Amino acid sequence: MPDAVSSITVFTPRYWEFLNEDEPPEEDLAEEFHEASKFHRVTMGRETNGRRLQADPELSRSAAIGARELPHLPRIPLPAIDTEREGGDHPALIRNASCRDFTTEALPVEQLGRALWLSYGAYPKHESAAPPARRPVASGGALYPLELYLLADVSGTGRKGLYHYNIHDHVLEEVHDEVGEERIRRMGAQPDLLASAPAIVLINGLFWRSRFKYRLRGYRFALMEAGAVIQQLTLAAQSLGWGAVPFAGLFDDQVEELCEIDGVDHSFLNAVLLGRPR
Ligand SMILES: Cc1cc2nc3c(=O)[nH]c(=O)nc-3n(C[C@H](O)[C@H](O)[C@H](O)COP(=O)(O)O)c2cc1C
Repeated sequence: MPDAVSSITVFTPRYWEFLNEDEPPEEDLAEEFHEASKFHRVTMGRETNGRRLQADPELSRSAAIGARELPHLPRIPLPAIDTEREGGDHPALIRNASCRDFTTEALPVEQLGRALWLSYGAYPKHESAAPPARRPVASGGALYPLELYLLADVSGTGRKGLYHYNIHDHVLEEVHDEVGEERIRRMGAQPDLLASAPAIVLINGLFWRSRFKYRLRGYRFALMEAGAVIQQLTLAAQSLGWGAVPFAGLFDDQVEELCEIDGVDHSFLNAVLLGRPR
């Protein structure tokens, strides 16, 4: 497990001080987009087009193809991939199908810690390494604008609580020692799936940790980094023998209230559900 990391800078949301401005800017395209892209219980049906996709065979067919082909261009064949052999050579990189059917077994806290560390923890610092410490994913400007929260039973009592993953000391900070099943069910679409997942990792963006330097582009960097963490966490879960599914269907305001974050400078991006596959 990593040594304590004390050199990672945590920018407060008083970001405008870094922009040499007295006040926060009045117009903020990233903030407006982020707000407009949130899921709310009442409007979620309007914000997604799932029903139309199911009902329209032509749309489903073209959506299923999912990748571009340019048949008018010359083709250079690549050596065939022997999936059996290549899968054997790269077992850690062949992603399993998403899992949506978990056993009720709680995941051991030691392994949960390992999964968090493998996805967004801090690597032990080499004597000669300049701060900040390296992390499992690359990060624009090494600014690491994400924060992970864990909703799981880590006490072995059968009660799920909500914890912030503190990467400096590799500890969980208890935000709520108990989050009841009803509250979890109300947090998003697919309530049965949400309640059945032994662990949920919430990936939140603290945008100004990147934006103070990269401004609007920093917002894009935070989204990309969340994708990298999803992948890393999914593969880490797989290596621990767990199933995982990235999960967007949470109502942002519910998550942000639970995490006690403001939903503007520090806001929910996506989740990953974890558990042993049934
Ligand atoms: C950003 C993102 C959000 C997702 N949100 C959900 C979700 O809310 N519910 C769900 O059941 N699956 C969700 N998924 C999983 C996808 O449906 C799944 O990855 C896709 O169907 C491909 O299947 P596979 O992962 O089994 O290969 C999400 C995946 C990603 C990357």
